[in-house]
Amino acid sequence: MPTVLVTGANRGLGFEHVKQYAEKGWNVIACARNPEKAEDLQALNKKYEEHFTIEQLEVIDHPRIEELAEKYKGTPIDILLNNAGTTGPMGVPGAMEYQKIDSMDYQIWRDILEVNLLSPFKIATAFKEHVSESEKKILVMMSSDLGSVEQNNFGGFYSYRASKSALNIIAKGMSVDWQDIIVIALAPGWCRTYLGGAEAEVDPAESVAEQQVMFESIKENDSGKFLDRFGNQVPW
Ligand SMILES: NC(=O)c1ccc[n+]([C@@H]2O[C@H](COP(=O)([O-])OP(=O)(O)OC[C@H]3O[C@@H](n4cnc5c(N)ncnc54)[C@H](OP(=O)(O)O)[C@@H]3O)[C@@H](O)[C@H]2O)c1
Repeated sequence: MPTVLVTGANRGLGFEHVKQYAEKGWNVIACARNPEKAEDLQALNKKYEEHFTIEQLEVIDHPRIEELAEKYKGTPIDILLNNAGTTGPMGVPGAMEYQKIDSMDYQIWRDILEVNLLSPFKIATAFKEHVSESEKKILVMMSSDLGSVEQNNFGGFYSYRASKSALNIIAKGMSVDWQDIIVIALAPGWCRTYLGGAEAEVDPAESVAEQQVMFESIKENDSGKFLDRFGNQVPW
């Protein structure tokens, strides 16, 4: 069976990914920064213990990323899902308050960039060989419609938007530098998680099911694209 590694796997979209891949019998490496508090993840681990592993990973901890990459050296990773992300200390709608044009919290902005931009870069470079050695060879950078320059018609959300826009150019760059794997930036839709808020349009389980169907249809020439969960291109 294929292997998937997911960051931020204790809740939201990351949790749905590890749950649905575990149900399909995949080998799952579920990363969470506080595994001891992640009761739902522990329950999955118990249920699927033969092909499910939990790893502690705070994604801004680069030495820990290197340690894990070394631990899994020689283990092919079919899909690397750089999923962990943040809008700062609050989800939507509260998160809009500290990243407005007239009220910017610069420390929160720095923290958002560290998690949403530097960490996925570090994780991708640390685990690139694991992806290269796999069958599917897919690297997913979890982006957002809010990272689309063309779709920015209502302003605001400066810190989060900037982090995801920059993540997009990194995904594109990696697709150029790494010709042997498939790198995509993904917009999962506006989902009802802590980050997305209660007003969001899409059920997380539904989005993840659709994402996983889309991953199965990804072709080599999709590398370097910004895709929605159905495989349609999102304007940069
Ligand atoms: N929901 C949406 O509408 C939406 C739309 C577009 C894109 N996205 C993207 O989808 C991804 C998942 O979001 P979500 O909606 O599932 O959000 P969520 O429910 O808030 O989950 C975020 C996940 O990221 C983890 N995380 C955050 N900072 C971390 C860190 N420093 N180290 C390790 N893990 C960290 C969280 O772990 P803790 O529990 O330890 O905090 C949690 O597991 C994010 O990249 C987000 O930007 C979401």
